[in-house]
Amino acid sequence: MDKFVIKGGNPLIGKVTISGSKNSALPILAATLLTPEECIIHRVPDLSDIRYMLEILKFLGAQVHYEKGTVRVKNKIINWIAPYDLVRKMRASICILGPLIARCGKARVSLPGGCVIGDRPIDLHISGLQKLGANIDIIKGDVVAQGGQLRGTTINLRGPYGSTVLGTDNVMMAACRSEGTTIIEGAACEPEVEDLAKFLVSMGAKISGIGSQRLIIEGIKELHGSEYTIITDRIEAGTFAVGAAMTKGDLFLEQAPVNHMTSVLEKLRDCGVTIQVEEKGLRVSRSGPLKAFEIETSSYPGFPTDMQAQFCAMATIACGKSKVVENIFPNRFMHISELKRLGANIELLKNEVHIYGIERLSGAPVMASDLRASAALVLAGLVADNTTEVHRVYHIDRGYEKIDEKLLAVGAMIKRVYSKT
Ligand code: EPU
Repeated sequence: MDKFVIKGGNPLIGKVTISGSKNSALPILAATLLTPEECIIHRVPDLSDIRYMLEILKFLGAQVHYEKGTVRVKNKIINWIAPYDLVRKMRASICILGPLIARCGKARVSLPGGCVIGDRPIDLHISGLQKLGANIDIIKGDVVAQGGQLRGTTINLRGPYGSTVLGTDNVMMAACRSEGTTIIEGAACEPEVEDLAKFLVSMGAKISGIGSQRLIIEGIKELHGSEYTIITDRIEAGTFAVGAAMTKGDLFLEQAPVNHMTSVLEKLRDCGVTIQVEEKGLRVSRSGPLKAFEIETSSYPGFPTDMQAQFCAMATIACGKSKVVENIFPNRFMHISELKRLGANIELLKNEVHIYGIERLSGAPVMASDLRASAALVLAGLVADNTTEVHRVYHIDRGYEKIDEKLLAVGAMIKRVYSKT
């Protein structure tokens, strides 16, 4: 397994070009299953999660061509079963369920297994699709949908922890080809859900209320092929912004999706970071002290759970006591014990942590446990004394396109050590 060896101390200075959004690209690729016509998707980031999704589409019968960020895909579905071996590699593969049911009237998708960031139920996906008329059972660890005519209705997708992002995606995709009108109440409003809705509209779907908690979808019989460019990744941009803040750097984040980053940018400003919005992106720099802060994760437009770990890393060197409350995935704190290995002073209490900033972290070997936790460890390594080794970086390769090359280009001392196994 590859690892990163990072020597801390250098400020990040220069330009980083932000890639296409992983969490938009995955459901948009799944949505191409809704039509037999060709779809051309631009700005698709080269990530292992994207490669898994393309493998799944190929397994189902698609012709796929992926080159220089553009995917050309034509879905002639010859198979409606996605087996465990493919699905277990990535939880987001569940978002093929809605389109498969809508296009084929049947689907068998293995239940995604456990996840270190916490329990990841899909009850809202299933009840939403059942309300549309799909007959769904769980058989031998698979979600099996067979028979049932999809008909529009009113569906509420609000769960105990807020709305569900991929659940909204699944139900919205199925509703596009259902008979009549579907109203989704409590829809997730994340920019990635909005991006998927816009892609569906470009395929001919009739959706109103896009970007709000109430989506109204007039079902139609057929969707057609489309050419579409994915939004840029607000979480990648946020991660680099935190990198500039932590290292006292000065980064220009080209094509950062500024409008999708309000809560993160506000918090960075409160911490003493300078944010300048420019025509082609965002400039992030810091010269003064880094102040402690309080954050609480919530659904968009609130503070994103996908930026929580990176802000924890930042708090370890901020002046004073920071408080971080995680409301979406209450156990998403795997990075805390690893940050402590670098000397961080952190108390973990249920779904919140108190972090007492210290002058300097000290390098050590640490273990990445999930995507955003690994990003936090890389950020911490950039400011730690001596050398930090981040093991199991395949987690970070799932969601950050060439992060080591991008960091190296702006002054970080980071090296990927390839594993021989
Ligand atoms: N939930 C339920 N029932 C469901 C579905 C979700 O109770 O049927 C709960 C979850 O347990 C969680 C909350 O609802 O407490 C929100 O989960 P959600 O369904 O919104 O998460 P997701 O759609 O599976 C996406 C992103 C995650 C991101 C979350 C929250 C993709 C591919 N994944 O997951 O991204 O953290 O929304 O914003 O879009 C990441 O990129 O690192 C990542 C984990």
